[in-house]
Amino acid sequence: MSNSVEINGLNKSYGKLSVLKDVNLNVPEGAIYGLIGPNGAGKTTLIKALVGALKYDSGKISVLNLDPIKNKWDLRRQIGYMPQTPSLYGDLTAFQNISFFGKAHGIKNLEEETNKILAFTELSDRKNDLVRNFSGGMQKRVSLACTLIHKPKIIFLDEPTAAVDPQLKQRTWALFKKLSESGVTIFVSTHLMDEAMLCDKVTILRQGEVLLVDTPHNILVKGKTKITVNRNGTKTELISGSSASALASELKKFGLDKEIQDITFTQDNIENIILDIVDKKK
Ligand SMILES: Nc1ncnc2c1ncn2[C@@H]1O[C@H](COP(=O)(O)OP(=O)(O)OP(=O)(O)O)[C@@H](O)[C@H]1O
Ligand SMILES: [Mg+2]
Repeated sequence: MSNSVEINGLNKSYGKLSVLKDVNLNVPEGAIYGLIGPNGAGKTTLIKALVGALKYDSGKISVLNLDPIKNKWDLRRQIGYMPQTPSLYGDLTAFQNISFFGKAHGIKNLEEETNKILAFTELSDRKNDLVRNFSGGMQKRVSLACTLIHKPKIIFLDEPTAAVDPQLKQRTWALFKKLSESGVTIFVSTHLMDEAMLCDKVTILRQGEVLLVDTPHNILVKGKTKITVNRNGTKTELISGSSASALASELKKFGLDKEIQDITFTQDNIENIILDIVDKKK
């Protein structure tokens, strides 16, 4: 499988402040790739560099085999970028906002395509409402629709679910899954650790440094699991690693004792594990 994005030795400073420090990462084609990091980690800066909206100091970036600065316009036709703050026209309707972006991309059958995107993003019933009357979460959804109108091969989404209620967040992630299944690569930043679990691969960024690149499963395994064994009403607690082999070796101590009534496992959640990784590297 080829990579949609390759970054080698990327550096960016603002004056004396080093914001991206020797960033290296590869995004496989069709993946949902999560960029996780606290406020100020450099997520927006990195995304801006990837979409050609920011000049970086050194390193090499390739997006769909193009250089975001040298091939900016070529790249713009093939990618979608949803900025952290939606840039929409408040006194236009959802339909008009999406068609505006479609027109800029020279989309044929614009009305039909706009209606399709409205349906895909579950906005059809609000299509004729002015965007300024939409809630923050709904505006994010319109912004996502604008990002998709020209059927990009890769989309860069900067905190698309920040300040979005849990129900809308779940529906938004279901859309990402559908897009990814249709072959679109998704590069999504978030400071919400639980969203890491929904990605195929995750990069953890802190103060411009990549701390870890891994699958959510492998990150979970770095945590601990509390095992509680209930033998005839007497509970024994032990702390184990979370891998299957670590759990098996702890349980061996109990054999297949018929007095054991139940065993419960409480696994560290991904939020704690990631915060631990971020803290340890301080
Ligand atoms: N134009 C700029 N001039 C100077 N410093 C900047 C500029 N843009 C960003 N920074 C600094 O770069 C660092 C990274 O900022 P960035 O916006 O990329 O972080 P982020 O991870 O997107 O944070 P958030 O979660 O708050 O959106 C911060 O310390 C920020 O203050
Ligand atoms: Mg940001």
